[in-house]
Amino acid sequence: MNKFIGYRCSLCGTEYAPGDVTYTCPKDAGNLDVVLDYDSIKSKYKAEDILSRNDPSLWRFLPLLPVSAPPGDSTPLHVAGGTPVFNLTSLAAKLGLSYLWLKDESRNPTASFKDRASAIIVTRAHELKAEVVVTASTGNAGAALAGMCAAIGQKAVIFAPKSALPAKVAQLLIYGAQVILVDGTYDDAFDLTIQAANEFGWYCRNTGYNPFTAEGKKTAAFEIWEWWQEAHREIHKQVSEETDHAPLTIFVPVGDGNIISGIHKGFKDLQELDWMPRLPRIIGVQAKGSAAIANAFHADTEEITPVSAKTIADSISVDLPRDGVRAVRAAKETGGTYITVSDNEILKAMAELGREGIFAEPAGATAYAGLIKAAGSGLVGGEDPILVLNTGSGLKDVRAALKAVKKAPIIEPTLKAVKRLL
Ligand SMILES: Cc1ncc(COP(=O)(O)O)c(C=O)c1O
Ligand SMILES: [Zn+2]
Repeated sequence: MNKFIGYRCSLCGTEYAPGDVTYTCPKDAGNLDVVLDYDSIKSKYKAEDILSRNDPSLWRFLPLLPVSAPPGDSTPLHVAGGTPVFNLTSLAAKLGLSYLWLKDESRNPTASFKDRASAIIVTRAHELKAEVVVTASTGNAGAALAGMCAAIGQKAVIFAPKSALPAKVAQLLIYGAQVILVDGTYDDAFDLTIQAANEFGWYCRNTGYNPFTAEGKKTAAFEIWEWWQEAHREIHKQVSEETDHAPLTIFVPVGDGNIISGIHKGFKDLQELDWMPRLPRIIGVQAKGSAAIANAFHADTEEITPVSAKTIADSISVDLPRDGVRAVRAAKETGGTYITVSDNEILKAMAELGREGIFAEPAGATAYAGLIKAAGSGLVGGEDPILVLNTGSGLKDVRAALKAVKKAPIIEPTLKAVKRLL
């Protein structure tokens, strides 16, 4: 069954056949939504058919993805997704919430949410027989691409700003990608990557440019949908079946805006299939120093005005978000909003998550920082069921982690010194 039937431009609505375009709309450079043949999927599958599949990875949702099965088997590419959801009871109590969960995307093979996108991109690149796959990245998208490519022997080239964090550059190099550090910003690397891809005929994974990245990211929405069926039943054990509770609210950290757009797309796919009657509310959280999408949202416009980004959360430090329009809509169309948080609030959120056993990088902790703010301001109510994403591992940025906590003391190796300290 060919379920992938084309693209639709998110700006002008023009539809394209799969072979007509590769990246963005030729008319207005709008982001393209992948269009699936929902009728055909519906005629072939029921929700239970998907949910009863054995594979715990994101590939359990293959019937809803625009690619065929990934090449090879039993590699890191085959185990992306399927991340755990934890119940944050102490933090819930602290924030005055009854229901609080965290989906830990740092458990992906290369330790960030980006593995979802790269798994689909690498599979697509294999279908297209691409010789080289290239991406711009502050580190996580690149590591995800490099890791997934390494898993199947595909050549990868990564352009990163020279300011990219050492742990992230190390990951790129260890996975054997050709790493090119650019003396400029992430945005400079982004534009250069597109030029290089056009010049050398490489397949370009750039976030918010290649329509298949959102198709990978939407698998998080599918997993949330699946998890929610059970979590929702648990809530009804506490409130009667007839009592209508607030919809699930999801907090997502936002840089280019592709994760939030991808998650929104996943829920819209489920609605097209009549498998999810009520869409969750999606709240985007940006760093104050990199808030182009939040600015647009609150100015009630889809016009994204670039900023000069500066934040400790390197993964969401973006001058011109490349998926801004769809990111504004993800919040608007689900009754959500945008929140901005300071670097100090992000560091505080890292420390608080750490005390629940979750080690998030600054961008990963940004969603939780947004929740702290939302709970404090009454934007979320005590009975609202809340799911926060952690999108990346704290091991990727130990320098920031050390800023979030007190220094460990150094002592002489004597019991006397220990006693003095205690
Ligand atoms: C850890 C982490 N969190 C959040 C994001 C934000 O994703 P997006 O740029 O699609 O908004 C990224 C993207 O690089 C990331 O690596
Ligand atoms: Zn268009």
